[in-house]
Amino acid sequence: MRLSDCYNFHDFRALAKRRLPGPIFDYIDGGADDEATLRRNSASFEDCDLLPGVLRGVETVDLSVTVMGQRLALPFYLSPTALQRLFHHRGEHAVASVAAKHGTMFGVSSLGTVDLEHVRQQYSGPQVYQFYFHKDRGLNRAMMERAKKAGVEVMMLTVDSITGGNRERDRRTGFSIPFKLNLAGMLQFAIKPMWALNYLTHEQFRLPQLEGHVQMEGGAMSISRYFTDMLDPSLDWDDVAEMVKLWSGQFCLKGIMSVADAKRAVDIGCTGIVLSNHGGRQLDGSRAAFDQLAEIVDAVGDKIDVMMDGGVQRGTHILKALSLGAKAVGVGRYYLFPLAAAGEAGVERAVDLLKIEVERGMKLMGCTSIDQLSRENLRFR
Ligand code: LAC
Repeated sequence: MRLSDCYNFHDFRALAKRRLPGPIFDYIDGGADDEATLRRNSASFEDCDLLPGVLRGVETVDLSVTVMGQRLALPFYLSPTALQRLFHHRGEHAVASVAAKHGTMFGVSSLGTVDLEHVRQQYSGPQVYQFYFHKDRGLNRAMMERAKKAGVEVMMLTVDSITGGNRERDRRTGFSIPFKLNLAGMLQFAIKPMWALNYLTHEQFRLPQLEGHVQMEGGAMSISRYFTDMLDPSLDWDDVAEMVKLWSGQFCLKGIMSVADAKRAVDIGCTGIVLSNHGGRQLDGSRAAFDQLAEIVDAVGDKIDVMMDGGVQRGTHILKALSLGAKAVGVGRYYLFPLAAAGEAGVERAVDLLKIEVERGMKLMGCTSIDQLSRENLRFR
């Protein structure tokens, strides 16, 4: 199987599985507990049908949206994700470059593997900074100041990861960052020599956003322990209100699921929320963002930009979320598997395919601009 044989999420996932050491593949692919939420995220889109309109003259379609004060040429963005250079040595560079080419938004994570300043300087396209709130308040302030100085457009505070999700696949392999593995995990590395060669012959793996602050204790720490030991479980609305003031720019909360929390986000001056269950990686049994979208849009959609992510694998998934009222839709694994499979060329192909799917879907729905999508276009079963 080659990149040119990949036509969708499932193909990219299969190619990534071949190329990546098992523990890394499982880290990307896996969810918490029984992975029920992970499965529901994608399945949720199938409980809802599109109702197309015809004969509307659809030769040109405009896919652009405005979200968080940013004009995006596409109604989907590449969500910030951790550890990208572990999957492919170009990591965030590959992702930011493709986002810039397509005029959409991308992100650098607190657990990102390149300096957020470097990507801001090198690529156009709005940049999100995915923020984890650490126990070390000095670190939090320093991270915010650094992002502001770099010219990052959107601050995105993740609020669903105050403690580590129970990711049993990672526990089994001993996956940790950079690496520390149990014997079974190590054997899986040994059978992917190409990945190992690639990893060893490129710039050393780093977590530049956290350098000098987070001790990696002999070089390795599990993601779950990072969340549990380093992040501040006392984080509350007052802390966030203070952050919003300090940032004084586009600020969104990622991981909001309830109407009450969405309203509080409005009250403290956030400009956006992302409905998300962290790709099913945190609280298993949590509702899918798509299932919860209408309720949130009805409550706060006229006061704040509502986005969603989780389980998005097709252009029609994006059309359904936009029809319910999302302003834009985030994808994570959808671009991470192609990144792992083929670097920038992989991400490029994946984004191209998704864009074409959205465009084709719009034409088949009889819509020429995103604002023509509405709940009239949907029926729940
Ligand atoms: C994860 C974090 C790091 O889900 O976002 O692994």
